Amino acid sequence: MEDFIQRIECYRASYMPIDDDKDRKLSYIKIFDVGSRYLVNKIQDHIQSRIVYYLMNIHVTPRSIYLSRHGESELNLTGRIGGDSGLSPRGHKYASALGVFIKSQNINDLKVWTSHMKRTIQTAEAVGVRYEQWKALNEIDAGVCEELTYEEIQEKFPEEFALRDQDKYRYRYPKGESYEDLVHRLEPVIMELERQENVLVICHQAVMRCLLAYFLDKPADQLPYLRCPLHTVLKLTPIAYGCKVESFFLNIEAVNTHRERPENVDVNRNPEEALQTVPDHI
Ligand code: G3H
Repeated sequence: MEDFIQRIECYRASYMPIDDDKDRKLSYIKIFDVGSRYLVNKIQDHIQSRIVYYLMNIHVTPRSIYLSRHGESELNLTGRIGGDSGLSPRGHKYASALGVFIKSQNINDLKVWTSHMKRTIQTAEAVGVRYEQWKALNEIDAGVCEELTYEEIQEKFPEEFALRDQDKYRYRYPKGESYEDLVHRLEPVIMELERQENVLVICHQAVMRCLLAYFLDKPADQLPYLRCPLHTVLKLTPIAYGCKVESFFLNIEAVNTHRERPENVDVNRNPEEALQTVPDHI
């Protein structure tokens, strides 16, 4: 509160108040008492109305957002992307450990969200609390590459594989999605996360990267390479001008599914160069 009042004092030194009569022609939104009342004046275009919508959905009540991927899946074990497989034995162990971890956090009125995919639902089931399923939280659709390993993608679609490495954020899988598409798909989830207080989101690697990038304000080129390992919970706590991040590895081993950008991203590279950074799998 002291910091808040001090900040208002600082603003007084450089800003002047809007006058609702004299400034009638200007576009503005006034927010009273951190959102108990709003005054919206002369909103003229789409962007301005989106800004109003955004500002009416955010709040400053202290809370935390917990992000976790599902437990390790059967397809993770074999290095296959996408699909809708169930959890591996270690994945089930993680799901129970996540339940214990969440209890230990003593969270007030926790909401739990999953995607429509089996592996996130199985994870939430073991946590043992009520949860809500969001289709928008489903993993990136890899189109013709669904359920393939990175090695198989290189073998069947070497050019596509290189194009993805050249611009992973904008690259769209044939008959599938790009990270950019995913960011748009997640917009309603993000808006609802802004409205809510404590939430645990059980999601997927690409989805978790998008959510993390939003809260940590990461640029598009870094977003698809953010590290979101399996069996690790990230606790995000909004603070003034940013977000505190705490990482909890729950001590259940899991495969690594993170593939770094290789040095050579040319469409004429050889297979060894393309597969240089593929993580180990069965
Ligand atoms: O199945 C999709 C993966 O979780 C996304 O991984 O975008 O790093 O290839 P990637």
